[in-house]
Amino acid sequence: MKNILVTGGAGFIGSHTAVELIAAGYNAVIVDNLSNSKESALTGIKEISGATPSFYNLDYSNDEKLKEIILKESVDGVIHFAAFKAVGESTETPLKYYANNVAGFVGLLSTLEKLGIPIVFSSSCTVYGEPDSLPVNEQAPIKPAESPYGTTKQMDETILRDATKASKKLKSIALRYFNPVGAHPSGLIGELPLGRPSNLFPVVTQAIAGVGKELTVFGTDYDTPDGSCVRDYIHVVDLAKAHIKALEYLNGQQQGFYDVFNIGSGKGNTVLEVIKAFEETTGKKVPHILGARRDGDIVATYANCSKANELLGWKTEKTLTDSCRDAWNWQTKITPAL
Ligand code: NAD
Ligand code: WQD
Repeated sequence: MKNILVTGGAGFIGSHTAVELIAAGYNAVIVDNLSNSKESALTGIKEISGATPSFYNLDYSNDEKLKEIILKESVDGVIHFAAFKAVGESTETPLKYYANNVAGFVGLLSTLEKLGIPIVFSSSCTVYGEPDSLPVNEQAPIKPAESPYGTTKQMDETILRDATKASKKLKSIALRYFNPVGAHPSGLIGELPLGRPSNLFPVVTQAIAGVGKELTVFGTDYDTPDGSCVRDYIHVVDLAKAHIKALEYLNGQQQGFYDVFNIGSGKGNTVLEVIKAFEETTGKKVPHILGARRDGDIVATYANCSKANELLGWKTEKTLTDSCRDAWNWQTKITPAL
């Protein structure tokens, strides 16, 4: 594989993955309709990597145009990030989520099936819901999803598995990300929340920067070491590198091969620990108040990543401190007043 189509390549994880692809000697071909990103991410990719990936401002579900691009660019592998990801919004506009994340995905897979092109798919730890035991491994049961967004990931995994197993031409991997955070250490690309963020890291960095409200810690009476929720925060550069390992692994597999891998740090941190880590790393106070539980929150989850460690030969290199430092560095770059 040499020419890799990155759908959603202008987004948070896609842009970091494009950088790592180029660093590993691949050509990245980016298709993104900029529905949740800006073209400035492409400038960042260019500045970091010194390469200019082909960019197509296109809805990935335009099957005809996408096929033209795949043929023109001699694409021989796909990493599929393009999707909507706002959990709250998905409960208000489920059809928008099913159309983009599921219907679009079926079209994409049909094209890849015809052309015999392998795919790495962005799944999520959300498929596990509240795990029965920790750390959670890939054998853990898939629980009823908490949101239409979560359902789209469960449906896509099922569709991908069934389509791949029935095919003589497809092979695929689904990566179940835990909580991707941080930014590229250069500060040239990072997470660009359009509108008010709801994820912890951007809420914290905006609160420190004084461009957002103070952080409300959602719940301090859970059965966890300090009463706040536990998550597995993984640095986005470590996560990006897992995609290259997954492509390499797929390369050695037969058609019809499908598997899933957890991609996390393997560590659980509470919200209060994250606040402390930010304060120690940045030397700044995180303005916050202790608040009520958030509806639908999982109490505690973190990954067992032994499968990815052993089979993909992937492991994390970065720490929570790195994530806080890089997320804050990125925030200072996107907050003009700082
Ligand atoms: P993001 O919103 O930053 O990136 C997604 C990109 O896809 C955006 O640039 C957006 O413009 C683009 N896009 C959306 N619909 C499109 C369409 N129809 N055609 C073309 N481009 C389209 O999100 P992200 O955080 O980088 O997430 C990437 C993937 O990883 C998503 O599939 C998401 O569900 C999954 N994921 C994210 C997280 C997380 O917390 N960030 C966790 C688990 C899984
Ligand atoms: C992390 C922790 C909050 C904001 C979401 C999606 C999930 C997956 C990852 C895509 C929780 C706490 C947060 C705030 C807080 N995405 N928090 N105050 O909920 O683990 O998962 O992103 O697949 O599907 O649901 O991430 O960043 O929202 O929250 O106290 O203002 O921070 O309660 O414990 P979450 P998050």
